[in-house]
Amino acid sequence: MATERTLSIIKPDAVAKNAIGEIIARFEKAGLKVVAAKMMHLSEEKAGGFYAEHKERPFFKDLVGFMTSGPVVVQVLEGEGAIAKNRELMGATNPKEAAPGTIRADFAETIDANAVHGSDSPESAEREISYFFGNDEICPR
Ligand code: PPS
Repeated sequence: MATERTLSIIKPDAVAKNAIGEIIARFEKAGLKVVAAKMMHLSEEKAGGFYAEHKERPFFKDLVGFMTSGPVVVQVLEGEGAIAKNRELMGATNPKEAAPGTIRADFAETIDANAVHGSDSPESAEREISYFFGNDEICPR
């Protein structure tokens, strides 16, 4: 399997629960490496731009409101099959449907505050990584 990079966001609910370390430990234990990371409090413009593909969805305003409600930790994860591996670790979008032992099953309660984001395809990963990081902020290891 090819080495890939994916964008991960630890969302405001998980940051507020002081779960940053536990979530990153799951990535590392699964063989993913953090090659870039920063904590940010997203502006409405930055969050809205990130979720632009959902702007006609009924939940868009709530999603942007939630993502700007507190700081997030944005990371680039690198590893074999990183995109699928991260999504497996995250679990289903709705925590009530997330498999036991996944991040969302353990740290999230609702679909609108669901602890983590992960890129869903190589195309999204490329776009999302460059939305948050310049090449000089990524440290290959
Ligand atoms: S899709 O069509 O598969 O892309 O949509 P989905 O992955 O289900 O959701 C996209 C992002 O929107 C968030 N979401 C919601 N936010 C607030 N309220 C409701 N009801 C809601 N439903 C979905 C969901 O958490 C996804 O965020 P990310 O950050 O991409 O995981």
